[in-house]
Amino acid sequence: MTHNINDRGLAVIVLAAGQGTRMKSSLPKVLHRIGGRPLVGHVIDTALALAPERVVLVVRHERDLVAGTVIEQTPGVVIVDQDDVPGTGRAVELALDALDDFTGDVLVLSGDVPLLDSDTLTGLVGAHRDGSAAATVLSAVLEDATGYGRVIRDAEGAVTRIVEQKDATPDEAAVHEINAGVYVFEAQALRAHLSLVGTANAQGEKYLTDVVALLRDSRLVVAAASAPDAAAALGVNDRVQLAEAARLLNARTVRRWQLEGATILDPATTWIDVDAKLASDVTVLPNTHILGATVVDAGATIGPDTSLVHCEVGENATVTRTDATLAVIGAGATVGPFAYLRPGTHLGARGKIGTFVETKNSTIGERSKVPHLSYIGDTTIGTGVNLGAGAITANYDDIAKHRTEIGDEVHTGSHNVFVAPVRIGDGAKTGAGAVVRKDVPAGALALSIAPQRNIEGWVESNRPGTGAADVAARARSAQKADDGSQEEDR
Ligand code: UD1
Ligand code: MG
Repeated sequence: MTHNINDRGLAVIVLAAGQGTRMKSSLPKVLHRIGGRPLVGHVIDTALALAPERVVLVVRHERDLVAGTVIEQTPGVVIVDQDDVPGTGRAVELALDALDDFTGDVLVLSGDVPLLDSDTLTGLVGAHRDGSAAATVLSAVLEDATGYGRVIRDAEGAVTRIVEQKDATPDEAAVHEINAGVYVFEAQALRAHLSLVGTANAQGEKYLTDVVALLRDSRLVVAAASAPDAAAALGVNDRVQLAEAARLLNARTVRRWQLEGATILDPATTWIDVDAKLASDVTVLPNTHILGATVVDAGATIGPDTSLVHCEVGENATVTRTDATLAVIGAGATVGPFAYLRPGTHLGARGKIGTFVETKNSTIGERSKVPHLSYIGDTTIGTGVNLGAGAITANYDDIAKHRTEIGDEVHTGSHNVFVAPVRIGDGAKTGAGAVVRKDVPAGALALSIAPQRNIEGWVESNRPGTGAADVAARARSAQKADDGSQEEDR
């Protein structure tokens, strides 16, 4: 008989109480991130796709931090605290208590198995119900099974028990079929048999996996369903596995956007977080990181060597060799190469932030350009503005930050300093090297540099014997001779 997946109730238990000793980290293991999200966040997200009645998260190590992070992402999750009895079996036992008299199927997930996808889970629950099993274990066949629990079968191929690597005989350790740490249990059978689990094993823990043999002793059916994609079973216990999981997740994400119409030249050096979005005909050049909730609109080109964190990039914009966080880049705008856009940067449509330019908390209007070697902070720039090379907004007076306001169609000379607070009126201009300390009225030309004075012969008088003095003397006598002959010609 086939069951609809929703025929019976489904509750999900996510195990996240462990410290993750092998990570050697002050951060709890399940909060380490891949694809921009904590490991446990991926697990919860996948579980939600099955629309379970309840989701329970078991915590202990750094409980407030772990629970807080999960609740922020998914407010409806029920938090259960594990006591001092260690082990995955104890964690599930306490979670079951929190589920009261729940009678359907219980899906147990490990907070450190992040690549599990909802199709695999739906298949597992379906197989469990079709087989009328008391427990169905998700398994995978791995070339290198090191560290995982092994699925032990009898001569008929039926699952008899799961043995942890540390407790395995050499024959058992040679088995390549592993327990993915993902299971469906019939709630009542699980409750009845968990209480029988002891701690007589290498780690002195109450293993959830021991329930398998106990169910078999009660003549109940235990099945193992193989994961269609072995990567889904990858458990993260150390930093090597963390990097492997990150790489596999990224490969999935890159492929998804390629199939949605983005050109991604080099998947191996392109990192895209799971929350980022790329429109069609976006081009991503090598060595580019598109992170957080970054959104890139159609036709834009990003990279090479670019990192965008929580940015919005408009249609057909070009962002080259740039580091940007919380910045908005308008349609058709160009950024870089070698630009640093800090939070609060808004670049208008067809605007430009060019080479070796740093911006922060500033709005640069449509068609306005900051092309070279500049720092623009706490500034509002109107439309059609061009700032000369080397523009600096001096926004900080050692006590507070102040704003610079630049109107529309302003063109400034090279190497200007705008000492904030200061306003430059519409259509105004400034001379090269100006230090603008006072407001400039609309349409005015601001000059702040004293007239140039040349002191003849200064180098020969003050730096005698240097190379500069020698060549200057030569040039000056040649000039004199030249002047003399011109005199004669006249
Ligand atoms: C576990 C399985 C192993 C399986 C592997 C798959 C057991 C005994 N072993 O081993 O068969 O191959 O996962 O990845 O279950 N946790 C708690 N409370 C605890 C201990 C752990 O909530 O007291 C949580 C951890 O935070 C983690 C998960 O359970 O998210 C698995 O624990 P971990 O210590 O990583 O178990 P493994 O050694 O990987
Ligand atoms: Mg693990």
